[in-house]
Amino acid sequence: MIYHFCILNFMIQLINLIEASVIVLPLHQEERYLNQVKTVVNASIGGNFDDGYYVLVNIGSPPQKLALLIDTGSSNLAVAASSALPVKRYFHMNESESFHLTGKSVKIKYVQGQWSGTLGSDLISIPNSPSITTRCNVACILSSEDVFSNVSNWQGLLGLAYSAVAKPDSSVTPYFDALVADGKVENIFSIALCDKPQIQNVKQSQGKLVLGGIENSLYTGDILYTRIHKEWFYEVILTNITVGSKKWEGHCSELNNDKTIIDTGTSALYLPEKVFTWVKQSLHKTDELKNQLNERFWKGQEDVCIQKGRSVSEYFHQIEMVFGETFNSSVSLVIPPELFLWKTPQIVPDNDCYKLGIASSKVGTIIGAVILEGFYVIYDRENKRIGFANSTCTHTTAAVIRTMNMPKDPKDCAHSYEEESGSSLLVIAYILSTLCILCAIPLLVMLTQWIWHHLIKKRGDTSEASSLIDD
Ligand SMILES: *[C@@H]1O[C@H](CO)[C@@H](O)[C@H](O)[C@H]1NC(C)=O
Ligand SMILES: *[C@@H]1O[C@H](CO)[C@@H](O)[C@H](O)[C@H]1NC(C)=O
Ligand SMILES: *[C@@H]1O[C@H](CO)[C@@H](O)[C@H](O)[C@H]1NC(C)=O
Ligand SMILES: *[C@@H]1O[C@H](CO)[C@@H](O)[C@H](O)[C@H]1NC(C)=O
Ligand SMILES: *[C@@H]1O[C@H](CO)[C@@H](O)[C@H](O)[C@H]1NC(C)=O
Ligand SMILES: *[C@@H]1O[C@H](CO)[C@@H](O)[C@H](O)[C@H]1NC(C)=O
Repeated sequence: MIYHFCILNFMIQLINLIEASVIVLPLHQEERYLNQVKTVVNASIGGNFDDGYYVLVNIGSPPQKLALLIDTGSSNLAVAASSALPVKRYFHMNESESFHLTGKSVKIKYVQGQWSGTLGSDLISIPNSPSITTRCNVACILSSEDVFSNVSNWQGLLGLAYSAVAKPDSSVTPYFDALVADGKVENIFSIALCDKPQIQNVKQSQGKLVLGGIENSLYTGDILYTRIHKEWFYEVILTNITVGSKKWEGHCSELNNDKTIIDTGTSALYLPEKVFTWVKQSLHKTDELKNQLNERFWKGQEDVCIQKGRSVSEYFHQIEMVFGETFNSSVSLVIPPELFLWKTPQIVPDNDCYKLGIASSKVGTIIGAVILEGFYVIYDRENKRIGFANSTCTHTTAAVIRTMNMPKDPKDCAHSYEEESGSSLLVIAYILSTLCILCAIPLLVMLTQWIWHHLIKKRGDTSEASSLIDD
């Protein structure tokens, strides 16, 4: 099992939170100018694609250092806070002088796994960085199922998405919102997750989380931006996808069914079932390989092993994911097979083995860590856009490319909840009214016959008529 299912589930369970509201940060223009001393915090990321990427955070006073999973697919800062959990360290509420317990209970249930705990707040800072200590809501996890694993290197989550998906409700201000509201940083952060090392079992520091800005050393060339479609998760709109030279020929809204999000807390690339099936049929370069790839491989349960020294690019096509940029240009992410096939420790003589980092999804497209590892990604919340740039820490040919003449308005590709429920209701209404008419015809015929027989022809005989009335 390579998939870290529990992370995906973080977003799955949030799916029913559709009534997202646009957040207005309580930061006034005047305050921003008074408060000139904004810093950029440059935190090192640890971990790997398999277990997840984390950052070290100090919680409370005296500070307790914990590793938190960087999760742009959820919005709570949540930490293990009980010795009953399968973690190496946990937050001791009673040992922090600055901890305030609000006592509100918080619970998150996933398709598999869940946690529950209690809400409080405490001082949070990033070690070895300019002091940007801020008071923030902390969900203290007291019990959990299938969230932590005794091999994980993190003990909590740093949810970086919008308050619309915070639990138990959007009144729980997320960490980054609190930081911005305090005037500590600008309303932008960026993340470079660095490639999984192709050397087996090497787990080391892998990237940067930059709070409040963009770090020039992390990219080359330009940053290309696409709009954030809705501020809850980081939802964007895919307008096209190609595998090798094959183009997606279905409607582009199927690529975003029921949404497309950028989520560092999910390990794989998840695609809507229909799109996944199409990718499955198009990914191989040779028929020989096609025959070798069985259902278990496509489910991520079995490795494909290729001769040592050969590149996976010889066997698999690259994928290109396209997002709208301006009305006449698009941003393409060129995703080489080295990104979506991850090397496993399985030992087969003279072979290297890989597992597929793409899976089928019922909750839309999730651009997870396996893809994000190839790029420097800018979460420009101030301007409501996501930027992609060529990363200086990828070892693959992953690239961000501008393509001109986008033929479609990205909004045409968005999944529309209203439209869908509206049109399906309309269909139901048509079916029902048709049924009514169909049922009414024989009834009318019967009624006419009955009237004819009983009231007109057999006026004297009442037995049949009374039995009808009694019923
Ligand atoms: C962030 O880290 C990079 C690389 O470690 C360094 O070059 C840069 O100066 C740092 N930036 C800030 C603002 O600390
Ligand atoms: C905090 O609680 C733990 C577990 O209940 C206990 O072992 C520890 O002594 C407590 N620490 C303080 C400072 O009260
Ligand atoms: C981790 O948990 C599994 C079962 O959940 C157990 O088999 C394994 O020994 C544990 N490993 C460690 C290092 O505690
Ligand atoms: C990224 O790199 C590719 C290839 O090296 C280059 O063609 C492309 O223009 C670069 N993208 C940007 C946005 O600079
Ligand atoms: C998708 O890309 C292909 C090839 O570049 C193009 O022919 C097609 O029109 C694009 N579709 C959309 C919806 O942009
Ligand atoms: C794209 O549209 C912008 C705004 O109208 C225009 O300035 C630019 O020249 C266009 N680019 C191309 C290549 O058509």
